[in-house]
Amino acid sequence: MLLTRRWIVLHAFAVLIALSGGCRAEKADLEFGRYLASECVACHRNATADGAIPNIFGMAEARFTVLIEAYRNKRLPNPIMQNVAVRLKDDEIAALAHFFAVTKKP
Ligand code: HEC
Repeated sequence: MLLTRRWIVLHAFAVLIALSGGCRAEKADLEFGRYLASECVACHRNATADGAIPNIFGMAEARFTVLIEAYRNKRLPNPIMQNVAVRLKDDEIAALAHFFAVTKKP
């Protein structure tokens, strides 16, 4: 009985530690995304109705990633976004994708 209880307590701690570690990783990723996004937001907060500057807040991460990679390898022709995207590494694109997916337009 005592053994069982100890087993439960130990595992409860293990789960707690795993969960808090996960939350910290999530938070770090979001903060990294926010940090990288400041230059993007300078343009994209002024999204226009005609789409000349598209709104990217709330965009699904998968769609965002496909678009940025397309600018990066020049399959999408816009030179402004090509210059922006060519500087981004994969982990930075992932952090930005997450940030914009969960952030509302200011
Ligand atoms: C100087 C202004 C400017 C900056 C800075 C900028 N963008 Fe853009 N972005 C644009 C314009 C203009 C377009 C539309 C390009 C086109 O028509 O293909 C665009 C398009 C996009 C798209 C495609 C949206 C869609 O629905 O097709 C994404 C995603 C995007 N930008 C993300 C970013 C990210 C992430 C950053 C920062 C790392 C960034 N942009 C920085 C101006 C900017």
